[in-house]
Amino acid sequence: MKKLAIIAAMALAPLFSAQEMVYQPVQSYQTQQYKAKKKAFVENLLSKMTIDEKIGQMNLPTSGDFTTGQAKSSDIGKKVEQGLVGGLFNIKGAEKIRAVQKVAVEQSRLKIPLIFGMDVIHGYETTFPIPLGLASSFDMDLVQQSAQIAARESASDGISWTFSPMVDVSREPRWGRVSEGSGEDPYLGSQVAKAMVYGYQGKDLSDKNTILACFKHFALYGAPEGGRDYNTVDMSHVRMFNEYFAPYKAAVDAGVGSVMASFNEVDGIPATGNKWLMDDVLRKRWGFGGFIVTDYTGINEMTQHGMGDLQTVSALALKAGIDMDMVGEGFLSTLKKSLSEGKVTEAEITEAARRILDAKYDLGLFEDPYRYGDTKWASKEVFSQKNRDAARNIAAQSMVLLKNENHLLPLKKSGTVAVIGPLVNNALNMTGTWSVAAPHRKSVTLVQGLENNLGKEVKVLSAKGANIDDSAKLENIYAAHGKLTDRDPRSKEVLLKEAVDVARQSDVVILAIGESAEMSGESASRSDIEIPQSQVDLLKEIKKTGKPVVVVLFTGRPLALSNIKDIPDAVLNVWFPGTEAGNAIADVLYGKVNPSAKLPMTFPRSVGQIPVYYNHKNTGRPLSAENTEKCIYERFRSNYMDECVTPLYPFGYGLSYTKFSYSDVDVSDKNPKGNQTVEASVTLTNTGNYDGAEVVQLYIRDLVGSMTRPVKELKGFQKIFLKKGESRKVTFNISPEDLKFYNADLVYDWEPGDFEIMIGTNSEQVNTQVVHWSK
Ligand code: BGC
Repeated sequence: MKKLAIIAAMALAPLFSAQEMVYQPVQSYQTQQYKAKKKAFVENLLSKMTIDEKIGQMNLPTSGDFTTGQAKSSDIGKKVEQGLVGGLFNIKGAEKIRAVQKVAVEQSRLKIPLIFGMDVIHGYETTFPIPLGLASSFDMDLVQQSAQIAARESASDGISWTFSPMVDVSREPRWGRVSEGSGEDPYLGSQVAKAMVYGYQGKDLSDKNTILACFKHFALYGAPEGGRDYNTVDMSHVRMFNEYFAPYKAAVDAGVGSVMASFNEVDGIPATGNKWLMDDVLRKRWGFGGFIVTDYTGINEMTQHGMGDLQTVSALALKAGIDMDMVGEGFLSTLKKSLSEGKVTEAEITEAARRILDAKYDLGLFEDPYRYGDTKWASKEVFSQKNRDAARNIAAQSMVLLKNENHLLPLKKSGTVAVIGPLVNNALNMTGTWSVAAPHRKSVTLVQGLENNLGKEVKVLSAKGANIDDSAKLENIYAAHGKLTDRDPRSKEVLLKEAVDVARQSDVVILAIGESAEMSGESASRSDIEIPQSQVDLLKEIKKTGKPVVVVLFTGRPLALSNIKDIPDAVLNVWFPGTEAGNAIADVLYGKVNPSAKLPMTFPRSVGQIPVYYNHKNTGRPLSAENTEKCIYERFRSNYMDECVTPLYPFGYGLSYTKFSYSDVDVSDKNPKGNQTVEASVTLTNTGNYDGAEVVQLYIRDLVGSMTRPVKELKGFQKIFLKKGESRKVTFNISPEDLKFYNADLVYDWEPGDFEIMIGTNSEQVNTQVVHWSK
């Protein structure tokens, strides 16, 4: 009887309980004894390895095609047998991975297990919002939860290493890869970087539920000239350290186990061959102890950069600090020759192999090479209802309300709603860029989401209304990676007419417009970031019906919305929400969730303003505050004759269905000294008609310095939930740590003087108090 009861209880218990939040690097949980054991094991293994086997560990081919399972019989399979492969990436499925691992641990001489990597960027099969959307939540517990779930799902399916998080700061919305990062701010980017690393790696890398993280792309990949992917980057060291490096360093401080080098050059040397970056900054200055992998064929591309032939650039990469060569096999094909010619040393090769073996040891792969990946486990974990519920919540928390005239939103659950737009019935596009493992057809479309959630209360009508772009050629380019947009062959006029007819039968129109999934992401730079004309025309036609219009904006980047912003009554920016897109959008539109997300990246008025970002310098000729606000041109000031200097929507902007009021800022001491902590607080009141959350933001400006300082920098945020009518005191503790910056000698310190302490609802609307901080 008792035995039966226990078995029944076990059956009811979840297979793997939810992981607790982690706020410490994984290494901090490793004991001295563990480290000594690992060292002895890896040393012993290295002592048995030939030079070929060491170089083999440094080789990372792609499986090539992760849908057909070729690895065993291919050339890669032979190399695995010969010990010439350290890991494989983008091979999917527990069984397939197990089969390849079997070759490594049964047929190779030293039986060293492979590490299996994948671009698990914003979820595995259960897909969360694109990373820019995740950052918009300003909720680090949710960001961490998304990474934990991604880790569990991918680990159960055989993956032990993800090429995430991407932490490149970017002020360049023309660059399609802004969708993969956390936007423009080094502080927010650092918080997200930490949360993601903790989420993936947990407390113990050998725990089956955790995987190795890899931050990318080191470094400065987010600052390509003209926003063109892979393009040249050039900036001062002071700017790198103060404005771009923080999230990389935060990931290191969070104990990230691996790093991916970027494609671009830094100081005229490609990052993949840049010793200053990888050795001086990453390893020596920041103390990074893991391994560095190139990006896809990063070594080979150095020949195109003009750095020499494959042998030369492979040696350059090794000497600069690269440990693993992704895809290009420059290491595999040339390092031995370079060794015999004295161009690299055996110690350099051994060191690289050691770092990779260390990671495999930490992952527990030597103890059990099949630890990750188990079809039974995967069938329970992957795409589970529990994970999808979490994805739905996180998606709703990532949607930014940009406009809501006359409180059109939340919509009432009655009458007829018209759902119009090129993607309203398109499941393939809901997860956005980089969702290689997602079962796209199972994503919830907008029409499905509304039907699922409105039941019989609301009649849902739908129409396509327009293609993504009038140009079939461009639309084809936009779907280059296969997320088809179901181009409608009917004429523009016929599509418009059908949509207008549907709108006329409705009480309100939900018009989903913007980008398709692959208009952002890798190799998806745009020189024009407006909504394509086909969809602007659709919006204008629908507006003529006189029906209230809610724009649901799908986008992977900040768009220039000046030409449409006045037309709709409400705009909800949903980014690409992931697997649960339609359900989460319905939750927000109909008020189950009150939006609280904020923009992690400035929305410009026009492409000509780019780069436009909140933490800019003042210049010697700033436009007066009054003229800035009123958009009045002034001669011999830093402004445009034909455009305002302010953006359309600033960093940190986002509305709620309720309203929040801020009191003046109160500081505990206006004349602090030395290492004192000052409390800066406001009273936040929910003065509107709904319960809701507000992201309270703290900015600081250093008014006088040995170098010019930004007009403001984000230094803290808190997401505060208040019931309707409720008030709360919100306090930030400020210490000199928050005042530090890298000076002209790249020394990180603070300087005494006056500081503006600003607290508010976005980077433009703040209340200010000045403190004088002396040493
Ligand atoms: C991207 C990386 C990615 C890698 C492997 C590259 O093209 O730049 O971000 O991790 O491919 O798929």
